[in-house]
Amino acid sequence: MRSIGAYVPKKVLTNEDLEKMVDTSDEWITKRTGIKTRHIASEEENTSDLGLEAAKLALKRAGLEAEDIDLLICATISPDYFCMPSTACMIAKKLGIANVPAMDISAACSGFIYALSTAKAYIESGMAKTVLIVGAEKLSAIVDWSDRTTCILFGDGAGAAVVAATDKKEEAIIDTNISADGKFYDYLITPGCGTERPCSEEVLKERACFIKMKGNETFKVAVKTLTNDVKELLEKNGISSEHITYFVPHQANYRILSAVANALGLNEKQCVITVDKYGNTSSASIPMAINEIFEEGKLKKGDLLLLDAFGGGFTWGSAILPFSPTTP
Ligand code: ACO
Repeated sequence: MRSIGAYVPKKVLTNEDLEKMVDTSDEWITKRTGIKTRHIASEEENTSDLGLEAAKLALKRAGLEAEDIDLLICATISPDYFCMPSTACMIAKKLGIANVPAMDISAACSGFIYALSTAKAYIESGMAKTVLIVGAEKLSAIVDWSDRTTCILFGDGAGAAVVAATDKKEEAIIDTNISADGKFYDYLITPGCGTERPCSEEVLKERACFIKMKGNETFKVAVKTLTNDVKELLEKNGISSEHITYFVPHQANYRILSAVANALGLNEKQCVITVDKYGNTSSASIPMAINEIFEEGKLKKGDLLLLDAFGGGFTWGSAILPFSPTTP
């Protein structure tokens, strides 16, 4: 990973603001999730606009122009347009590049790790040299603001990274581990407006085009899966948890993150937590969290990152990689 960038929209929505919108309290949200604030995009900002800002920063920090990219991948579950064009195409257009493959990945909160894994495969097979991966979400547009069980969780934002070919083994992504199990498809779902239940007055009346979640059931599978897939990856690569500089999990819920970190024997200093500030930003949460430690001056060249995510599908994934910026 050559560089990292992120963007968050200006508007901040606090738990106190939510208390005025639904039957909830700052105390409940803080205790159950650790979330205090989240950012919300304006009507004029689409997912691709958030992704664009993060992408521009990642390119600048890698010392590259958009023209240097030979593959653009955007992970998102809140695309600008239903079905087509892809958000990746919109970001490419806004970056002013054409004749470069651009595609979206739909793997919910695991999307960024799926994108990283795809970039790795393209680079290792020689099909690409410099890949721009973006995780961008305007979840506020697909959240039901009358449903207190979900609307308190999500936020908007984007993160991006440049992943490039290298001859130096110590700079390359060490390994990724992605997987899925569709039997849990209805634990986290937007049931309406797809081909199973096309958009209709009835679907809209039921608010079925918004995110629905079986939170408690999701929580249990999330903790178990997030722990097991990382254990597998560390073991496979002969790396132990004390070698990890930063553990950057998908920021869904503070209770999930601390349970997983404890099970993996990781200490507080190793764990990157941003869920309190940004809530759950799905595919954007991991690159946004990496960007946070980068901008705080904590992330240095050669630091070993352990990424871990879980999301709708269910999908999950983990990755071990050194941070390898072009400049120290
Ligand atoms: N404010 C106040 N009370 C609430 C709220 C709220 N916002 N939401 C629910 N409650 C109530 C419920 O109605 C319930 O009341 P009852 O006992 O009278 O029936 C009670 O609080 C407990 O509800 P639970 O759903 O059991 O609460 P839980 O402790 O499970 O916390 C939460 C809910 C925070 C959603 C948790 O289950 C969670 O984080 N789940 C996992 C989320 C996740 O990991 N998602 C994966 C990634 S997201 C993606 O892929 C897009």
